[in-house]
Amino acid sequence: MSTILDGKHLVLGTCYYPEHWPETMWEPDILRMLENGIEVIRIAEFAWSKTEPEEGRFTFDFFDRFLDLCDQHGMKVIFGTPTATPPAWLTEKYPEVLNADLEGTLYRHGARRHYNYNSLVYQTLSARIVRVLAEHYAGRKCIIGWQIDNELNCEREWFYSEADSAAFRLYLKKQYETLDRLNDAWGTVFWNQTYTAWDEIHVPRKTISDSTNPHEVLDYIRFISVSARQFCKMQSDILREYIKPGDFITTNGMFANLDNHQMTAESLDFYTYDSYPNFAYCLDAYRDVPEDLKDRRWSRNLTEVRSISRRFGIMEQQSGANGWNTRMEAPTPRPGQMMLWTMQSIAHGADYVSYFRWRTSTIGTEIYWHGILDYSGRENRRIAELRQIHATLSRMQELAGTRYEAKVGILKDYDNIFDARLDKWHGRIDWASETALFNAAQKTHTPLDYIYLDHIQPEEMADYSLLFYPHPALMTKERAELLRSYVEQGGTLVLGCRSAYKDMNGRCVMDKLPGLLSDLTQADIPEYSFIAPDAGKVTIDWNGTCLEASVFSDLVDAVGTGKLEGIYTSDYYAGSGALVSNQVGKGKVYYYGSAFSEQAARVFLEKFGAAEPYSDCIKVPESCELAVRSNGQSRYLFILNYLSTPAVVQICQPMVDLNTGETVSGSFEIPGYCTLVLKV
Ligand code: GAL
Repeated sequence: MSTILDGKHLVLGTCYYPEHWPETMWEPDILRMLENGIEVIRIAEFAWSKTEPEEGRFTFDFFDRFLDLCDQHGMKVIFGTPTATPPAWLTEKYPEVLNADLEGTLYRHGARRHYNYNSLVYQTLSARIVRVLAEHYAGRKCIIGWQIDNELNCEREWFYSEADSAAFRLYLKKQYETLDRLNDAWGTVFWNQTYTAWDEIHVPRKTISDSTNPHEVLDYIRFISVSARQFCKMQSDILREYIKPGDFITTNGMFANLDNHQMTAESLDFYTYDSYPNFAYCLDAYRDVPEDLKDRRWSRNLTEVRSISRRFGIMEQQSGANGWNTRMEAPTPRPGQMMLWTMQSIAHGADYVSYFRWRTSTIGTEIYWHGILDYSGRENRRIAELRQIHATLSRMQELAGTRYEAKVGILKDYDNIFDARLDKWHGRIDWASETALFNAAQKTHTPLDYIYLDHIQPEEMADYSLLFYPHPALMTKERAELLRSYVEQGGTLVLGCRSAYKDMNGRCVMDKLPGLLSDLTQADIPEYSFIAPDAGKVTIDWNGTCLEASVFSDLVDAVGTGKLEGIYTSDYYAGSGALVSNQVGKGKVYYYGSAFSEQAARVFLEKFGAAEPYSDCIKVPESCELAVRSNGQSRYLFILNYLSTPAVVQICQPMVDLNTGETVSGSFEIPGYCTLVLKV
């Protein structure tokens, strides 16, 4: 039985590539890892040719020799299936296994993840290598679990090969049965796109306007998700036949166009995440993000991961600078950041943290993607920090198995996420609100969960006193009912603009808006508009409190039992309704006619008494994150300081500093990049 995620241990690991190093280095490396607090390594996820150097010829001695050492020294191993990197002999002989770009050009050998999920040849050869590996290695004492592939949908989350078109047709036939139904669902009468034979249908291809039928695209993304899931399931089913009792199956992520929740439920024991907060210091997308929110955005990702898999680990945690020879130049983590980012993962619920990677590669495209050790392997600051992390965590083992605690949630669902990916109107409001709500929750120290409506048990919704469902453009009767029952039982639900204006094919409904949510919200939207670029700041008066609208304005009237709570105070629609509430059973639903600005999100959290839920026991500056884990008896408050400068918190009641064991209260200084964990 593995100690990883057993609810009793916090465990550290690393990623090791025996194939990158002379065999003479293996044993000293294993011993050094163990001495420095590493108990687990992940290996083999790109090493197909080490076991199948040519088609159908299998050799096991390489990993046998390595695993002998692991067995001998008590190093635990997560073994990766190697399907992310098909061998050259394979892609050369069977080019149909390759993925293609939108114009059909094949992605060739030389990088990774250049295969498609739907090639029957690739499925057969992948199934065989997985079976062969599992059959030979799964009984090993040192092996505690398996990682399927590596980062499904990473590098490319779009698939345009011939095999994908063929599989897409089968998927659609199953879905729609007749072409008439498909034509209707996709509205192909528009621009004369009507299909008269299944073979006329392809995955999206180059078109004149850089876009294609949006309803087709929505189904295409769903299809990609199903393809990736099936590929994962195929491997997981094989592994299950061989793994020892207590060993686990996981995969690492998290990438787009994939229902990670469903994949985890059907194929994995738990999900693992690859956390690289240093991207905040190199990617353009983060350039304008304020300093104290930069790497804190990874808390958003960890929130997402926690929703996929309550029990989760970090398969790759940043330990060095980022960089391929062709892209990215992120700096080396500053002293303390490796510890900080580890604590960030743990604060959000990870009990296993594995660093990428033990040694920095001296070869290949990732020569600048640094690990714990540099090229020479000499003692350095990062391995010293690893020792410090290990020592700190050994004093905090009681955190293992405790759960992140949140009373506020944001509802999501894959249909809307997939739709928002390529629909500009939907995507823009979605991203604005996602960022604003997250930032507001961070700055008001309001622990937050993401809740997927398509994956939650209805009774779990009752754990949250306040739920936002920012822009569920696509809506079904069943989902509307689920929302109603949450509110009836006493919940507060806040919906944002553009809710329920589409059906599940992404076609706009002809009902009065908000469509299937009209009855629940008692709101009516006679008119709507993007906020014009020259409109300036659009504001809303909510019973005396000013809200800053963002991106979009639904003009909202109250009908029936609905109550008008807020009105626009600017632009040509000043005086029109902007916020309507409706009492339903024991709870209340609000329809807010805009996307959420950070300011508005904050007002909602404050008005509903959800902000700063721990302010009675601690006062924390905005620049720090507050995360809470609990086991029902004790609460553990994590205060993470993401800045280089010290932060001062006010501790209002005596609490135990989990690191020192001392009881602390009053003013307490947290040095830059440090985390304080308090037990209450
Ligand atoms: C991850 C990947 C690793 C390595 C790392 C650094 O996405 O799983 O194999 O490539 O990034 O680029």
